[in-house]
Amino acid sequence: MSDEQSGEIPLTGGRIATGVVRMGDTVRKPSTDASPFVAELLNLLEETGFQGAPRYAGQAEGFDIFTFIEGHVPTRFQAWSDSQVHAAAGLLRQMHDATSGSTLAGHFEVVCHHDPGPNNYVFQGDTPIALIDFAEAAPGSRLEDVAYLA
Ligand SMILES: Nc1ncnc2c1ncn2[C@@H]1O[C@H](COP(=O)(O)OP(=O)(O)OP(=O)(O)O)[C@@H](O)[C@H]1O
Ligand SMILES: [Mg+2]
Repeated sequence: MSDEQSGEIPLTGGRIATGVVRMGDTVRKPSTDASPFVAELLNLLEETGFQGAPRYAGQAEGFDIFTFIEGHVPTRFQAWSDSQVHAAAGLLRQMHDATSGSTLAGHFEVVCHHDPGPNNYVFQGDTPIALIDFAEAAPGSRLEDVAYLA
């Protein structure tokens, strides 16, 4: 059966994970050891009202299921305007604020994304509106993510 027949659309933007597919308004990504933490983190972000991340929609057949966020994900590095950097950093700031003091952050300042490059932001038009791909997320300090973003 072709991908088209099964309703699966391969998402080939990623560099590391293979087998990421879109199915309707969900994204399915092979589960890893990081999955339980990612699930807890996305649930926490949802509870706090953070809008800039997919929702965790459970697991099936060895895949994590996330809500699909409309937009585009840049596949190449390029020059970004101040307002784009401002928007990208603002999303990180909100994620950090949402995880500060949480059980997931443990005795660290916040939960860091740890891979906040343009390839892990969904853009609508010219503006980054959401972070994706929390596989590297772990407790840390805000500056780790700021430095990586820079
Ligand atoms: N929730 C989502 N909404 C929309 N698109 C998504 C979503 N999750 C993943 N994608 C798309 O699938 C691609 C691969 O997903 P993801 O970034 O999680 O995998 P990866 O291979 O680990 O990425 P990386 O390139 O950062 O190593 C992304 O580049 C993006 O285009
Ligand atoms: Mg990615």
